[in-house]
Amino acid sequence: QKGGFETYMLKEIYEQPEAIRETLRGRISGNQIILPKLDGLDLSAIDRIYIVGCGTAYHVGIYGSTLLQRWLPISAISTPASEFRYGHPVVDEHTLCIYISQSGETADTLAALKMTNEMGAQSIAIANVLGSSISRLANVTLYTCAGPEVAVASTKAFTTQLVLITLLIIKIAEMMGRRPQEADAVLHDLKRMPEIVDDMLKKSDEVKEYAELLKDQHDAYFIGRQLDYVSVLEGALKLKEISYVHADAYYAGELKHGPIALIEQGTVVIAMATQPEVAAKTISNIEETMARGANVILITNKEQPALKFDRVMRIPEIHPTLTCIPVTILLQLLAYHTATEKGRDVDKPRNLAKSVTVE
Ligand code: M6R
Repeated sequence: QKGGFETYMLKEIYEQPEAIRETLRGRISGNQIILPKLDGLDLSAIDRIYIVGCGTAYHVGIYGSTLLQRWLPISAISTPASEFRYGHPVVDEHTLCIYISQSGETADTLAALKMTNEMGAQSIAIANVLGSSISRLANVTLYTCAGPEVAVASTKAFTTQLVLITLLIIKIAEMMGRRPQEADAVLHDLKRMPEIVDDMLKKSDEVKEYAELLKDQHDAYFIGRQLDYVSVLEGALKLKEISYVHADAYYAGELKHGPIALIEQGTVVIAMATQPEVAAKTISNIEETMARGANVILITNKEQPALKFDRVMRIPEIHPTLTCIPVTILLQLLAYHTATEKGRDVDKPRNLAKSVTVE
């Protein structure tokens, strides 16, 4: 069942090129996005979009709302379902809600969807499990085609959700008369994503060396800005949930407003710098941590000639909208190798369930 892999999680990490290929299949033709299920929605009067999910799915929501804010002049907010339900959100017939859930059974997500249905919003679900409860509640359900995800930690569900929500948001923008200028470039690189992910998986041995650095740490800090923050959140969650190393996620620019007090000789900082508008700023935040003794692992898409980083992992130079996919592959491997070095049960981490059906 594990297909020759030691664990389900490792198998699922390695299934990502195929899962992404399947999720893209039939959904791009030339530079057009094919999502016919959306034809039944009327987006002409939408003035507010919420993206709601829990845990890893919430991170996809942050990615999605960041794209929406860039591409559409409307309010786009991402909130964890357990907060959204009780936060008195403004929801009416001009609201579109996008719900993300691998299992399609997460209690808070389903309850939030029922609530916004009653308030008159239109809804789109992104799910992985065919026929799951979410599909009976949402106006439209789009499926990631990741196949069954058995390990508790989400891997292929996350990356396929990123792929699908990218298509969805470009399509929504198009339906609202504002196809993003960079849509063609993003689609071009999305089509290459299975090969790009495959290349990242080949770096597993290199990543394993960095896991050596982490395995005896009590804490690790993940930093980045803008879309890198999505990878930061996901990398920290993955590390803590399967290795039990305490991991925090920070916007790099927020370090000096408090968290930098935690940095001392030997502290491990995992930094992402793939967003051209802010990469130089992040690099200078990294230097601040190095000056205080941090051991930095940098993930970037560019040469960093100004600095002598001991530990750099490169991702290819793809459209900046999409860098969190290859970056996340490296962070999944980092969490995985750290956890196995520590002898953890990566498929069934303590205190966690695959599907959270309680509120
Ligand atoms: O099935 P869902 O996508 O609704 O699950 C939501 C979260 O429980 C889930 O993403 C969780 O955070 C991951 N398993 C963590 O890796």
